[in-house]
Amino acid sequence: MSVLIKGGRIVTAVDDYVGDIYAENGVISLLGESLDVSAERTIDASGKFVFPGAIDPHTHIELPFGGTVTCDDFTSATVAAAFGGTTSLVDFCFQMPGQTFAEALETWQEKIERCKPVIDVGFHIAITDLHDGGTLSDLAKLPDEGITSYKLFMAYKGAVMVDDETLFKTMEVARETGAIVMVHAENGDAIDILVKRALAEGKTEPKWHALTRPPETEGEATNRAIQLAHVAGAPLFVVHVSCKQAIDPIAKAREDGFRVWGETCPQYLFIDETALDKPDFEGGKYIYTPPPRPKENQEHLWHALQRDVLSAVSTDHCPFNWPEQKGLGRDDFSKIPNGGPGIENRLHMLWHFGVSTGRITPNRFVELVSTTNAKLFGLYPRKGTIAPGSDADLVVWDPEKPYTVSVNTNHSNVNYNLFEGTEVVGAPEVVLVRGQVIVDGDKLVAEPGAGQFVKRARFGEALASAHRSVA
Ligand code: URP
Ligand code: ZN
Ligand code: ZN
Repeated sequence: MSVLIKGGRIVTAVDDYVGDIYAENGVISLLGESLDVSAERTIDASGKFVFPGAIDPHTHIELPFGGTVTCDDFTSATVAAAFGGTTSLVDFCFQMPGQTFAEALETWQEKIERCKPVIDVGFHIAITDLHDGGTLSDLAKLPDEGITSYKLFMAYKGAVMVDDETLFKTMEVARETGAIVMVHAENGDAIDILVKRALAEGKTEPKWHALTRPPETEGEATNRAIQLAHVAGAPLFVVHVSCKQAIDPIAKAREDGFRVWGETCPQYLFIDETALDKPDFEGGKYIYTPPPRPKENQEHLWHALQRDVLSAVSTDHCPFNWPEQKGLGRDDFSKIPNGGPGIENRLHMLWHFGVSTGRITPNRFVELVSTTNAKLFGLYPRKGTIAPGSDADLVVWDPEKPYTVSVNTNHSNVNYNLFEGTEVVGAPEVVLVRGQVIVDGDKLVAEPGAGQFVKRARFGEALASAHRSVA
């Protein structure tokens, strides 16, 4: 199968030019001006941008969490992702307490076999237990299977939280195996005390979710993880950074040359703590962790994205229906399943409020949603750029297309949208995975099983073997 994309404005993290892209058998083989080749499919991209497909390394699909299970499977989640211009995701495969890592991976493999993805999918391993189930030597073997990132939770005490011993030992294994460590950074012990005290005082409404997780608890844990990773010699990725207190230690560490990167998510750029006060339990929709913060943090986050203190924007898509699933905590905020949806609208929101306002350039946009994630998570240069030898994962982006962000335009199984009714301009027109068109205008045209499981390279290791040479 061959495809020719003609006359688009091709933007990567570093390039910006008008040209043609020719791909054969899923791989880009030619780039140039007015290419004189014929292809089975030609797409006219004049007046449009062409980006490398976006990569979302932070999703929770069909995840048992908070007494229920997230409501997207790998088909619904990846269809939604595709409509938003995301062509690869890396989901968190959870080792449930007592389970071995092999058992956890088997469970997640079964999920993608049962509900086939339409975009490419990789897995991180989320470590909850190094005592009874998974062992350090089992953990060390995972990079050979293409699982090259270890995730740990420093919060959610009594559920998936790990202690500093587990965190540090994992970091030491990561140094040896070439994996990157990812942390959910909040001080779970302090939060547990604050939550119990609030409940004992009869403070049960959603707003107490934020009030019992002050920004300093995120700042403290972020700094602790950074220092421990530095001592252990492991690269570190701090997920869902929400506030200045966490930005500051990342900025300092990066200035000092530490191997640390931070991610934020649209829900922190656009939603603030007042959302939790919505009446009739509507505040329950905004229970995700870290919580929505005081509004002034949004400017700190934008500034951090501009300065490369924060290096990625991902979704933390963790969808629970409202009020059915969120209602588990109607009378007790601590029982509301934590997580919000967002897999489909990351690019819409970041383009409209980031690029169109002049806060970030188109190059930086590509870097934030695709290239940095590809580089940190062992997918580059196979993915995350537009170059000969790279997968033809491409988004033809119409910068003039009006679009309403809404549950009514979304393709996820979830029944609400955090940004409901937001009008934006700029949306995907055609989306391709390895040269196959999967979204064409408003239509899903993916062949069943269009997505594949991707084995990822170790941290910093170029995917030399995957970056095929072209004639
Ligand atoms: O509230 C959230 N973010 N739920 C998903 C799990 C996590 O902490 O990332
Ligand atoms: Zn988290
Ligand atoms: Zn998450």
